[in-house]
Amino acid sequence: MNKNSIQEGWKWLQLQDKSDWQLPDGPTMQLVFSLGDNPDIKVYDLGCGLGRHTVFFAEQGYQVYASDISLAAVQETKSWLKKAGLSATVNHGQMTQLDQPENLFDLVISFNVIYHALRRDIVKTISEVHRILKPGGIFYGTLLTKDKGTHFREKENQIIDEQTLIIRGGVEDGIPHFFSHMEDVFDFFSNFEIESLVYCEVYDSPLDLKNVLSQRGWGHFRFLVRKPK
Ligand SMILES: C[S@@+](CC[C@H](N)C(=O)[O-])C[C@H]1O[C@@H](n2cnc3c(N)ncnc32)[C@H](O)[C@@H]1O
Repeated sequence: MNKNSIQEGWKWLQLQDKSDWQLPDGPTMQLVFSLGDNPDIKVYDLGCGLGRHTVFFAEQGYQVYASDISLAAVQETKSWLKKAGLSATVNHGQMTQLDQPENLFDLVISFNVIYHALRRDIVKTISEVHRILKPGGIFYGTLLTKDKGTHFREKENQIIDEQTLIIRGGVEDGIPHFFSHMEDVFDFFSNFEIESLVYCEVYDSPLDLKNVLSQRGWGHFRFLVRKPK
């Protein structure tokens, strides 16, 4: 593994309030409208965290696979599935090397995950996603943005370069964050058809007007890209 590549993942056991990570993301849920209700559909949740999307897609009757580099995340996802009486294959692993054959998945989702890396590892991860997707399959996820509203937070963190920092402290201690320019996004997805790119800004809570006006949010791109047929 490369220097500065992530080794451990989020420290989920240190997170006091997990509620933000227990309800599935709305636009991610809406992907079922594109997928339909065929039980042969295969979904991969890359960087599954506590398992909110793994559980949601398993509830839809799809064949679901998930992985995370955090052992705590893998355990939490497995125990949530068990409690819900659902099944999915959940593995511990690095996003840069996916333990799946090529051309298998209809959908890979990776919500707030692939930017937890240096540029070279993002490129590797996206090429792995491309490999495991069926021709015509969808990759839905997020990237942090450099051009837009994001506050780079130099003071609190370790700066690696103009687009990369390593968070110091909290549940993300030691985890790289890469902030993409628009050119990077088009470069990353040069082997895909880009169907949708939405910019949104996420503010730290508590969300009151004073707080929101005094901080800059975390700018994200939500991307929906397709492996060409
Ligand atoms: C912000 S959380 C998102 C979790 C989940 N996708 C969700 O939406 O609830 C990021 C997750 O990515 C995982 N992660 C970070 N870097 C990773 C890597 N190199 N390989 C696999 N998982 C990674 C972290 O351990 C963490 O669980």
